[in-house]
Amino acid sequence: MNADFLGDIQTPALVLSLEALDTNIRTMATARPDATLRPHVKAHKCTGIARRQVAAGHRSFTCATPLEVIGMARAGVGNDLLLANECVDTRRLAAMATAERETGIMVTVAVDSPITVDLAADAGLRHVLIDVNVGLPRCGCAPDAARSIAERAVGRGLIVRGVMGYEGHLMTAPENDKPSKVEECMRLLIRAFDSVVDVAGDECRIISAGGTGTYHVFDRHDSVLGRVNEVQAGSYALMDSSYGAQPLPFEQALYVVGTVVSTTSGERGSWAVIDVGLKSLGMDHGNPHIADANVWFCSDEHTTFSMIDGPLPRVGERVLVRPAHIDPTIAMHTAIHVVPRWGDAVIDVWPVDLRHW
Ligand SMILES: Cc1ncc(COP(=O)(O)O)c(C=O)c1O
Repeated sequence: MNADFLGDIQTPALVLSLEALDTNIRTMATARPDATLRPHVKAHKCTGIARRQVAAGHRSFTCATPLEVIGMARAGVGNDLLLANECVDTRRLAAMATAERETGIMVTVAVDSPITVDLAADAGLRHVLIDVNVGLPRCGCAPDAARSIAERAVGRGLIVRGVMGYEGHLMTAPENDKPSKVEECMRLLIRAFDSVVDVAGDECRIISAGGTGTYHVFDRHDSVLGRVNEVQAGSYALMDSSYGAQPLPFEQALYVVGTVVSTTSGERGSWAVIDVGLKSLGMDHGNPHIADANVWFCSDEHTTFSMIDGPLPRVGERVLVRPAHIDPTIAMHTAIHVVPRWGDAVIDVWPVDLRHW
């Protein structure tokens, strides 16, 4: 796609197609309507995008940082915000409790140990979800520890709303094995849920898991996968080249735009250089992609690429770069340039207003 439609936008910059975004949001909302999806805002960090997810029927959201929770609450987006992450910072816990009190938007935090329970209670928070380790070596208690953590939470006057378990190590697993592998993880989560439900009472209903790479396996209405009642997918809204390599029904809705600053054609080869580099791209999933080009490497402020076929772009031309990992890419930028569809001029600039921690 020729990116000259972007006019005099200063690069590197993010550009978003509303048409592609809304198509992705609609596709997911059809598969997982209303509260069966708890969209993860860490993948876009933007209340402008979250509002479109609300328009598609979702009211409950997943957040990765206290600031995402507070930003969503203060912006009045959604009615049920989950910090799907352990927080031991008393000031941030207190700030989330204040945001809940002042906005009336429910805040729930993940807990996986007695100390995280006590800190949540001390801060004045009221709702928790027990985070269970289902196989990714990150946060989460052992399934058999969930009951005693729930007992402690109830003893501290907290409402235990259920359990969550993130099977992040399976997001890009081979498709034929994925359902059975996810099912193994979810057996652990269900075991934890069944062990806490009588301690926690009627308000204990949530079994939350999943992401963009696994959202589709939970439609299997068998006894285990079918019991997961909300999916925490986030990347589906904007997508990246890592998820783009999976057989998923979502399209790329956001690119980093660069400008060609140098070209070389000679005996040692032909290449072009744009002003998009490591400081404007999340690189943990590898090099970004450029249509019809081979990306050679990225350095701080540059990406060097050659064309598979056809001439090099000219100095000054715009190039669209597809990030390999959307979440860390978004976190490096302060604004998103919005176009109605690819090829149209920019009509709006949305702040990435949920940045930082
Ligand atoms: C706790 C949690 N839930 C869900 C997700 C899923 O996100 P995505 O849809 O981007 O795969 C993540 C991603 O890292 C996560 O950390």
